[in-house]
Amino acid sequence: LKPVRVAMLGCGTVGTGVLALLADNREAITAKAGRPIEVGPIVVRDLKKERAPIVPRDSLTRRFEDVLAADVVIEVMGGMTPARDWILKALSAGRPVVTANKDVMAEHGVEVAAAARAGGVDVFFEAAVGGGIPIIRSLKESLAGTRVRRIAGILNGTTNYVLTRMAEAGTDLRAAVAEAQAAGFAEADPRADLDGLDAARKLAILASIAFSARVLPSDVAVEGIGGLKAHDIESGQRLGWACKLLAVAEQVGGRISLRVHPAFVEKSHPLASVRDSYNAIYLQGDAIGDAMFYGRGAGSLPTASAVMGDLIEAVRFLGQPARGLQAAEGRPDFLPPGEAVSRFYLRMQALDRPGVLAQVAAVLGRHDVNIHSVMQTPEGERSAELIVRTHPVREASITNALTELGRLEAVAGVRACIRLQPDGL
Ligand code: NAP
Ligand code: HSE
Repeated sequence: LKPVRVAMLGCGTVGTGVLALLADNREAITAKAGRPIEVGPIVVRDLKKERAPIVPRDSLTRRFEDVLAADVVIEVMGGMTPARDWILKALSAGRPVVTANKDVMAEHGVEVAAAARAGGVDVFFEAAVGGGIPIIRSLKESLAGTRVRRIAGILNGTTNYVLTRMAEAGTDLRAAVAEAQAAGFAEADPRADLDGLDAARKLAILASIAFSARVLPSDVAVEGIGGLKAHDIESGQRLGWACKLLAVAEQVGGRISLRVHPAFVEKSHPLASVRDSYNAIYLQGDAIGDAMFYGRGAGSLPTASAVMGDLIEAVRFLGQPARGLQAAEGRPDFLPPGEAVSRFYLRMQALDRPGVLAQVAAVLGRHDVNIHSVMQTPEGERSAELIVRTHPVREASITNALTELGRLEAVAGVRACIRLQPDGL
């Protein structure tokens, strides 16, 4: 059978994994795709860079134009420019594209779908969310009959790895990030991971599919893990919670609430046991009830596995009419972040003297914050640490209460404000 020629844009962590997977499983992949697959040309930035022996150096080029001679294009270079332009050009020229690029798919999914329609081909992006976890196709196809009420996910492998190392080995944030970078989990600029932007992009992609609406990363209220302190992660552990960067998309009274933030998850909840670079998507829907998709969310071979699944699909249907990516264009109503309701863990440092607890309680009460429990630990002779756990409360109320607490002369500072897992999760 005539081999299929597959061009690849980028040959870093994921691209090298694709080559390794193809070499290791060539026979099975050929059988599943129906034809042998040959990779090349491969577009990279630096032709002189040292690469793994699996990379065919004579296939490397810097010229995108060489790619259009191929039958299928894999994009694993990442970033917005020139990746977006090259994806659009390949699709418009009638080449199916397999991409792991959540930046492009989250921001420009509609434009990408239009280019695919114009070229009469399909675009595949399973690897863009959850690394090796088959969530995109599951959501688009297998779960199409279920009305999704909520998605709560651990969508970033780097931050989950960092939080696991901080909690279990006492590693400090910076050292844990360096480990994640060395393992190939982190984005080229790891701030995208740490600040929650990578998770927000993935959440926007999932929410667009789940709610059949156009959701953009800028619709997501985002808070990263940079402000977390080891002390709170430890306190949470003592209280029976694991700290996770949660990405939540949910229907609230006809509107959609979208947010990425650190949250304490009860240790008995399945999401609490998602460690290291693993990801999980916990989905709640009307017909399916609760379902969880779990697996490696980052790394060379897990991500290559998702790319390869898409590639096999692209090759099997090569030359047949495209099925067409349905990218919803209608914008939904969004719940303003201040109206979202959460439960909170608050930690403050206060003077240890009569009446202080009453002042704190009065401020919280004035802002409609219902206290669930309070734990006070003396710190030296005159000061104490207060940990307050709240019942569900509007986020705007907490913001206002924190501002007022910060003004109390008896409160030296509110040191932490971390959400607890959403009610009903
Ligand atoms: P990476 O290791 O940084 O590799 C990027 C590759 O793209 C490199 O080969 C680089 O060339 C090439 N490249 C970058 N800019 C280029 C340009 N302007 N022109 C030509 N080539 C260019 O990235 P990665 O970790 O493999 O990630 C690739 C994509 O997969 C990203 O979209 C990422 O978000 C996504 N992804 C990654 C993971 C993961 O665990 N790493 C998981 C899921 C999805 P040089 O080699 O010459 O520098
Ligand atoms: N940087 C990303 C992560 C790669 O850590 O999850 C996978 O998309």
